[in-house]
Amino acid sequence: MPHGKLFVTTALPYANGAFHIGHIMEYIQADVWVRFQRMRGREVHFVCADDAHGAPIMLAAEKAGKTPEAFVAEIARGRKAYLDGFHIAFDHWHSTHSPENTALSQDIFRRLKRAGLIYTRPIEQLYDPAKGMFLADRYVKGECPRCGAPEQYGDACERCGSVYAATELKNPYSTLSGARPVLRASEHYFFRLSDERCKRFLRDWIATPGRLQPQVANKAREWLEGEGERALADWDISRDPPYFGIRVPDIAEEKYLYVWLDAPIGYLAALKHYFDTGKARARGEPRSFEEFLADPQTRQIHFIGKDIIYFHTLFWPAMLHFAGLPYRVPDHVWVHGFITVSGDKMSKSRGTGIDPLRYLELGMNPEWLRYYIAAKLNANVEDLDFSPQDFVARVNSDLVGKYVNIASRAAGFLERHFDGRLYDFRPDQLGAQHSAAAAAAASAQIADDYEQREFGKVVREAMRLADLANQRYDRARPWELAKDPLRREELHRVCSEAMLAFHALTVLLAPILPATAARVARELFGMRRDFVWDDLEARPARILPYRHLLTRVQERQLETLLSGAPLPPQAAPARPAAPAQQTGDDRAAAREITIDEFARLDLRVARIVKAEAVEGADKLLKLTLDLGDHRRTVFAGIKSSYAPEALEGRLTVVVANLAPRKMRFGVSEGMVLAASGDGPGVFLLSADEGAQPGMKVR
Ligand code: MSP
Ligand code: ZN
Repeated sequence: MPHGKLFVTTALPYANGAFHIGHIMEYIQADVWVRFQRMRGREVHFVCADDAHGAPIMLAAEKAGKTPEAFVAEIARGRKAYLDGFHIAFDHWHSTHSPENTALSQDIFRRLKRAGLIYTRPIEQLYDPAKGMFLADRYVKGECPRCGAPEQYGDACERCGSVYAATELKNPYSTLSGARPVLRASEHYFFRLSDERCKRFLRDWIATPGRLQPQVANKAREWLEGEGERALADWDISRDPPYFGIRVPDIAEEKYLYVWLDAPIGYLAALKHYFDTGKARARGEPRSFEEFLADPQTRQIHFIGKDIIYFHTLFWPAMLHFAGLPYRVPDHVWVHGFITVSGDKMSKSRGTGIDPLRYLELGMNPEWLRYYIAAKLNANVEDLDFSPQDFVARVNSDLVGKYVNIASRAAGFLERHFDGRLYDFRPDQLGAQHSAAAAAAASAQIADDYEQREFGKVVREAMRLADLANQRYDRARPWELAKDPLRREELHRVCSEAMLAFHALTVLLAPILPATAARVARELFGMRRDFVWDDLEARPARILPYRHLLTRVQERQLETLLSGAPLPPQAAPARPAAPAQQTGDDRAAAREITIDEFARLDLRVARIVKAEAVEGADKLLKLTLDLGDHRRTVFAGIKSSYAPEALEGRLTVVVANLAPRKMRFGVSEGMVLAASGDGPGVFLLSADEGAQPGMKVR
């Protein structure tokens, strides 16, 4: 395990929209890795922020009739539901529109200027005289200068594919106002990326072994070494007003830093704010932000998608390097591919695909998605497809059918026959065949796979171990052993082995399934803390009564998720105030119960021998019920639908083991079952002819 304390980020999402599944996928990848590091005892500081600046956000705010500040603040407020919902454990979430980012961005700008890497020169650009604003290429349209196709954007023609400058368009117009743009000159600031010092540094930075994925390093090198037309150009880092951004410092004129300059600095602003608010100290880091950053032992790691490699492997390290201490260059930039849904690229505008919030609102378990995404991730820059059938199969047959199954099968025997005690294996009984020993033996490789972000391998190996545990269990036929008093020890060994394997598998999968692992630690093994990696060596001595852990996905849920149809009113449970991870509450599991849980309800057939109105109660009837061997009184809110005399003599169903409830009019000793919907009317259940009072309903 490499040394050092980790500073980990994910790309800062644009603050002009809610998260989509691509964001969540990136956060899951980073979160799994971070959780793994923490389980290994490493200090990690995991932060992110909203990328708030730039012309598109300014214009979106204007369209929404809001100030940019109010607009991005609103987006920021929506973030928590997603992050908590998917158990993404950022230590801190900040914004690039913040005093920290202003100070850091201006500081870095000044240092680069002092290093001689920033210069100004006038450039000519299209300007919208009606809007009073310079126009980026995407805000200009016109006829293609090569083929004459109408309605082409300012950078390239979609018909003939030629690439040109916006100034070359024929009959151009501003998409913002419709006005004809004019050419106008203005002084811009440039970062001298073409400087030999920059190139030398970057060559070195890119070539550092293990820093970048080979594919990413090649790409960066290609850009760096481009020649002629493809030669590395200096970077235009300023914008004229109106702009939502950070002012270029030390000049009277109103100019702004280009959003892509201040955005990555937002990583540092988030870290600084996190330090300044004392959260880093709470995580065991006593030093200041500057001291932490300047420490050669610190590791700075960015998780990003493949579309923003250029910024993160050229501009960003160069900026940091030439800004000097306490800034440090990124130790790693780890790039993932894009997620598609059923092969379709997700479209931000069409909003198709999987809406992560809708996923949660449907009561779908966040750990299903974490598991599925982890199973499909590797360390390469490969796209990943969410396929509904594949999702159902992996979650239901692997996650639930293999992993959870181990515990749910063995726990019952251990509880019933051994009071939850686990067999105390002697070392010689823990050979390689033993399924818990096999899991422990695989743990070093699995740790390595986590470290390398080969999560697909982790999941495959975990499922191999789960298969092994299930097979060993099946071959021993514990259900038969349980019938033979002479084979009690064997039964004990078989079930304990399965439970120890489940314990080990839960530790191994904890970075992917944090909420389930937290529940298993506390509810099943009675621990007062979450699992750490070293718990692989622990051999718990007993279990507490098993409670259902994870349900299967229902195809119907997935259909509703993908359909885009409005959710039925009941489908959206109120979001829990605290993340499910802390409460151990699993909303999806609350909907499906095991047969054992159902059996805890004592449902009986009862004859209504007397029904009477209750004085002073508009809705209640007082029922006297015959349950075969005794009578009892139940109050039921069915007065609006039934005349009391019509009920006398008929059979119904009562929950007989419901705790008695004291009401204003007397004690209700149970509850009769009735159906109701959105409309008026309550409909009492009845039993068919022949049923006898007292009969059990099951
Ligand atoms: N604001 C910039 C990043 C600035 S970092 C200093 C940005 N924002 S973004 O919202 O468009 O993207 C945020 C992250 O989500 C990026 O890493 C991007 O690659 C990732 N993804 C966007 N769409 C994605 C998929 N379809 N799949 C996986 N990741 C995707 O870029
Ligand atoms: Zn053309």
